[in-house]
Amino acid sequence: MTDDIRQKIQSLTDRLNEHNRKYYIEASPSISDYQFDLLMKELEALEKQYPQYKLPDSPTQRVGGDNTDKFIQIKHSVPMISLSNTYSEGEIRDFDSKIRTATGNSPFDYVCELKYDGLAISLEYVDGILTHAVTRGDGIIGDEVINNVRTIKTIPLKLVGTYPTTVSIRGEIIMPHKSFKMLNTEKEDIGEQPFANPRNAASGTLKLQNPKEVARRNLDFKPYGVIADDIIPDNHYDSMMMARAWGFKVSDFFARCYDVESILDFIESWDNHRKELDFDIDGIVIKVNNYNLQQQLGSTAKSPRWAIAYKFKAESATTKLLEVTYQVGRTGAITPVANLCPVQLAGTTVKRASLHNADIISELDLHEHDFVTVEKGGEIIPKITGVDISRRRTGNKLVEFPTICPECGHALIRNEGEAAHYCPNESACPPQIKGRIIHFTSRKAMNIESLGDETVSLLVDKKIISNVADIYKLKYNDIFGLEKIIFDDDGNAVRKMSFKEKSATNLIDSIEKSKSQPFARVLFAIGVRHVGETVAKTLASHFRNIDNIMSAGIDELTSCDEIGEIIATSLIAFFSKEENVAIVEQLRNFGLNMSITEKNHSAVLNLPTLIPLEGKVVVVSGVFDNFSREGIKEAVENCGGKIASSISKNTDLVIAGSNMGPAKYQKAQELNIPIMTEYEVFDINTTHPTALF
Ligand code: IVH
Repeated sequence: MTDDIRQKIQSLTDRLNEHNRKYYIEASPSISDYQFDLLMKELEALEKQYPQYKLPDSPTQRVGGDNTDKFIQIKHSVPMISLSNTYSEGEIRDFDSKIRTATGNSPFDYVCELKYDGLAISLEYVDGILTHAVTRGDGIIGDEVINNVRTIKTIPLKLVGTYPTTVSIRGEIIMPHKSFKMLNTEKEDIGEQPFANPRNAASGTLKLQNPKEVARRNLDFKPYGVIADDIIPDNHYDSMMMARAWGFKVSDFFARCYDVESILDFIESWDNHRKELDFDIDGIVIKVNNYNLQQQLGSTAKSPRWAIAYKFKAESATTKLLEVTYQVGRTGAITPVANLCPVQLAGTTVKRASLHNADIISELDLHEHDFVTVEKGGEIIPKITGVDISRRRTGNKLVEFPTICPECGHALIRNEGEAAHYCPNESACPPQIKGRIIHFTSRKAMNIESLGDETVSLLVDKKIISNVADIYKLKYNDIFGLEKIIFDDDGNAVRKMSFKEKSATNLIDSIEKSKSQPFARVLFAIGVRHVGETVAKTLASHFRNIDNIMSAGIDELTSCDEIGEIIATSLIAFFSKEENVAIVEQLRNFGLNMSITEKNHSAVLNLPTLIPLEGKVVVVSGVFDNFSREGIKEAVENCGGKIASSISKNTDLVIAGSNMGPAKYQKAQELNIPIMTEYEVFDINTTHPTALF
């Protein structure tokens, strides 16, 4: 019996420590907060009853920390304690009455503000200069992430005006929805697992050891506190206004409230309007405004008595699990999907929820036909956060992750340290074949407009094509008369369509037209894992042709700016496979661009322009489709333009490629300097949609 308990404590301790690591270090939790709390409570109860078995590394002894061994650790000048949370109006009323009692009913005010859903940071300024940026960590000691934080445009590197000699600005680092969507699209493009929500994305980004990449991802900072000994007002509200004068982007959504009813109005109003914001909030923070009064009220060991967080209820609903299906992606990653009895949630009908991976299914202890709780928080995709065991019928089987691919029957693999299962049968697994071809034809790759997902699927099913090179073998007669069924989002057949003369000709034409896509797009289109649009451009402009890339070793590849070991290894693995090299050779024989040299050194350098460049001062920034960095400068000079290296008020024009530095972009905007793409400046004889930002 005692052995059982000892083992249970050991297992709970290990599991919780692992979940803490996933949450704080990897920024990729595999269970909900609620499930985590349940496990923690179970461990706390057992440890209380059997203190002799409590382990030295028990997670009950410390607040979850986010420290990693990758960064220098710094002690906070003032600990970063957290707020007590409530979900109920009653507790907000209790909070107010306790404070009224403590103040003897003398008048005071509150500040209500948004509770940002990101990660806390403390910014230290000495003589107005940003000297440290430290994560919350365990509240006492955190990670120094200043190199990453310096890239966040809304954080001043130097304060303006009159400021205290030393001052800490506390706030939240968040990822706005726009940046989040862009990052996840890119991740999907290169076959990586997307982030589950903007908070995880912000946290994962801040822990990168690559400030350049951090800069590109456009994090934002939301200040919510000022700590200093002098030159600040006697209250929070005025201090925040002062921080605005020092250069911080202080929110406009701060309200001073004098009674509990106006606090509740503020909460209700934001609960209704939070979806209109471009970032996630998970509640409202209510703070006593006056610093003296804050001090008088003091803090408990965990949280201040002068503030409270009202958390919005994640909108949730209960429904029945119909079945779990398994989708196979382009890279072979298997995503389990819960198919649900349709249920109304936050204004939409939910029929499916992602279960992410095998760990999540086993943590939920999911059984067939379980009644499950579906939540829609900040996440775009609804998730299952719990199971109602009381409604489970006896005999319902445990949902078990398949061991073989649901599409091709090949045994699945799981790489050590990775959450996802993969089907390694790249060359014969139909959804992988289709996925690769769909990626190849997509807008940002070869842009073969008439060859949509359904047509690709049909051509693969009919065994007319089985790889990307086969596209270029297609003849009019292969297409004409083909019948395809159009499906809606739920997979229901809605109508039939057949290729007539016009649509078949259009398809053949658009395939032919794609042959003139620049080399960087071809490189992106062939779908090497981790080689996204920008990496492909960087590789193309550095190595100039496919042969140089295929023959490069790890050192040569990593010598190229922005190419790290992960990308280099992935390229080497891709080109070490004979079938991939064979496809590249076929594409080359069909006339696709396998180099940039030809264009750059002849036609491109003397391209006509669409706007006059004579005498114009031009700055170029980013990576270009048709030019190397030097090439575009030469082309500008050939048209009479002058190249400058940095943006100033004398600059007439900025030509921006993708991945233009955010600082340059901001400066050009501030100075009202036009920013144009290479396609707007030069008469490049192809049509490429260019999404720059
Ligand atoms: S005040 C002593 N204000 O919520 C009070 N916190 O547990 C310190 N948060 O992780 C916090 N928005 O990073 C405060 N407007 C806001 C906030 C906020 C988000 C976060 C904070 C901490 C958690 C509080």
